[in-house]
Amino acid sequence: MDSIKQIYSKNADGENEINPSAFSMALWKYKGEEGVLIPLLQAAQEQYSYIPESVIHRIAGITGIPASEIYGVVTFYKQFKLSPPGKHIIRVCDGTACHVNGSTTVLNVIKDVLGIENDETTKDRLFTLQTVACLGCCSLAPVMMIDDETYGRLSGSSIKNIIGTYGNQNEVTL
Ligand code: FES
Repeated sequence: MDSIKQIYSKNADGENEINPSAFSMALWKYKGEEGVLIPLLQAAQEQYSYIPESVIHRIAGITGIPASEIYGVVTFYKQFKLSPPGKHIIRVCDGTACHVNGSTTVLNVIKDVLGIENDETTKDRLFTLQTVACLGCCSLAPVMMIDDETYGRLSGSSIKNIIGTYGNQNEVTL
């Protein structure tokens, strides 16, 4: 499965990114090979941040794996998403320190404010909510991250204020 790495190439900033044409080549190259589906789906998700329906049919058409089977795999594994993520990803830590210090309350406040459940995206596609394991700053528990920004020692009011600083205030009821 080493060849799957050929899907990746370095961009101008020296970061790994998926080369769409290489991805297409990989699809052809892996035709009929056992165990190809998961790496291809991982590569697609890396590229699009979710698995578009068109990708499922493209993989099905080239590999011969039925689309229904691919859908089954995509919905079975939590790592794969069938819809695009929100503009901002909120990650609520539910590691031990955060759990003891009220991560459940943090999660419930965010759910109430945004009107979504864990692993869901707001209708305006501004926020996606996720729970994660330890974020590595337990002394600040309870902790959440929004995109790359870390927020600690959270309370109900601070959570609402922080979320309100992202995006359209009209979309977030404070
Ligand atoms: S348990 Fe939440 S940051 Fe470590």
